Amino acid sequence: MSIKFIDLNSQQLRLKDEINSGIQSVLKHGQYILGPEVRKFEKNLAKFGKSKYALGCANGTDAILLPLLAWGIGPGDAVFCPSFTYCATAEAIANTGASPVFIDINRRTYNIDPESLERAINKVKKSKKLVPRAVIAVDLFGQSANYPILSAIAKSYDLKLIADSAQGFGTTLKGKHPLHWADITTTSFFPAKPLGCYGDGGAILTNDANLAIRIESLRFHGKGVEKYDNTHVGINSRLDTLQAAILLPKLKIFPEEIKVRNLIARRYSDSLKDHVLHVPEILEGVISTWAQFTIEVSDPEVFSRKLKEKGIPTARYYPKPVHQQSAYSHYPIEGTKLTNTEDCSNRTISLPMHPYLEESTQNKIIEIVKKVAR
Ligand SMILES: Cc1ncc(COP(=O)(O)O)c(C=O)c1O
Repeated sequence: MSIKFIDLNSQQLRLKDEINSGIQSVLKHGQYILGPEVRKFEKNLAKFGKSKYALGCANGTDAILLPLLAWGIGPGDAVFCPSFTYCATAEAIANTGASPVFIDINRRTYNIDPESLERAINKVKKSKKLVPRAVIAVDLFGQSANYPILSAIAKSYDLKLIADSAQGFGTTLKGKHPLHWADITTTSFFPAKPLGCYGDGGAILTNDANLAIRIESLRFHGKGVEKYDNTHVGINSRLDTLQAAILLPKLKIFPEEIKVRNLIARRYSDSLKDHVLHVPEILEGVISTWAQFTIEVSDPEVFSRKLKEKGIPTARYYPKPVHQQSAYSHYPIEGTKLTNTEDCSNRTISLPMHPYLEESTQNKIIEIVKKVAR
């Protein structure tokens, strides 16, 4: 049997009956847009994420775009985000007309470096070309960013704070979700994410009632109280009822899956720490969702080729940081170079990670990684 980087089939077999009956009931009632499953899922998601409000939307990129629109962020504004992330974090900012300002990462956690953030805020304020408005922290590879420090910085400069938890939804820091510190948490239900659906999907969590009302309107073309009186220029970004029906049983087993991911990560780390340049470091008090298990090696391209020859799939997150990509290279960065970001992008490689990775397969992966790393 071939080893999978992410195994969606095993989970589907486990939940087959519940998923099928969920789909059948949607087909029966026919409320494909914002049907009862969406409302139920939003309620369960808010409960899981300890938020007052959870709103489904079409994908994890819109989940970032919608609060930016709700706050009126646009041309002339600066939104700070890491460059070591999927392009979608910066894409949502750029699509409002605002400018992403790229920040370096902490070399140990791969998450936004608070010191680099503060330097960038001061640089932008001093130059007076852009108005600082918000910070987007990314819970990269599943690990919560350092929200207590980030929220203190955001508050002191009067900036909004978004937790882009597309990869880390479910992560906690000292038992608290990122929303304990952030104004908004966003997530993606892209199929390969720890909590994924069978298509595109996303969600926004907040405790701010007015913001929730504004986002609810914006995700539905800016609708007002009356159906054909639109009070804002919005977008069309709703979570499909069918996807909500699929997510309902998946959310039920998600806490257990996070536990299993953590057991696998511990085994990987203990077995590989003396064989590769670096195994992931998790901040004290953090529970990661382990969207990726990412190690560092001196030549990830060669490493990946050798593992592939031995039947082990890998992925590179991210070989080119966003600030070096052609669509984003004209936006400002903190300082003259994002040293940690560029260093990491030359060394990181991710191993197979999912909650259905059997012990014998983990052993095989560990043995082969050790051999190739020699
Ligand atoms: C960090 C991060 N932010 C945002 C997104 C965007 O999510 P989606 O693909 O659902 O739009 C992703 C998805 O890959 C991501 O990894």
